[in-house]
Amino acid sequence: MIVAIDGPGGSGKTTVAKLVAKKLGFFYLDTGAIYRALTLKLMKEGVSLNDPLAVSQAIDRTSIEFRDDRVFLDGEDVTLAIRDPEVDRVVSLIAKIPVVREKLLPLQRELVKGRNSVVEGRDMGTVVFPEAEVKVFLTASLSERASRRWRELLSKGKDASLEDVLNDLKRRDDIDSNRDVAPLKVAPDAVIIDTTYKSVDEVVEEVVQLVLQRYKGSGFLSP
Ligand code: DC
Repeated sequence: MIVAIDGPGGSGKTTVAKLVAKKLGFFYLDTGAIYRALTLKLMKEGVSLNDPLAVSQAIDRTSIEFRDDRVFLDGEDVTLAIRDPEVDRVVSLIAKIPVVREKLLPLQRELVKGRNSVVEGRDMGTVVFPEAEVKVFLTASLSERASRRWRELLSKGKDASLEDVLNDLKRRDDIDSNRDVAPLKVAPDAVIIDTTYKSVDEVVEEVVQLVLQRYKGSGFLSP
């Protein structure tokens, strides 16, 4: 069973998806981390983003793995490095390259093969897992999303102004929503949850209830 959670940055996807997965005992896949790890690789190797062949070849020599909640790029633990503001600035530009999306598609499907999973990203319900049994689209106002991101950065000891965080989110929303391939959009069969005035627990409960409703009577899950 696949629970697909999509939405813009700061909408609460990661927090909610992780907790839902924990409550249900499902595997959790953060697909943003895959795009971030690849970004790190391309930045390290100085690959030109305007050269699709070079990007494609770089992907072919890249290994991205998840082990115990940690992300490994070519065997190296990059869990913290992929959250760097420098990666934030570049990742949307890499995620819009058609060959990148095409090549990362099978990896995402492979990672959840045979496991009940909560998958999180921008195109889970629309492109990667269109057959997902439950689809959720989380949103929140831009100012609320920016303030969440800003508090998160401060709590990690990173220095940032709220204004810069808000402008960066706005820029990424724009790139993610307007790209040609797999843009951020609501799947026709997704349930939209506005998290602006909701607590994390409330949103988690709503998603868990959607999963239970979907399987009510099937005997697949017991509440
Ligand atoms: O969720 P996040 O902020 O970690 O995602 C980082 C970037 O990766 C984001 O700008 C959009 C991109 N992304 C994407 O295009 N498709 C996904 N399924 C996940 C993330």
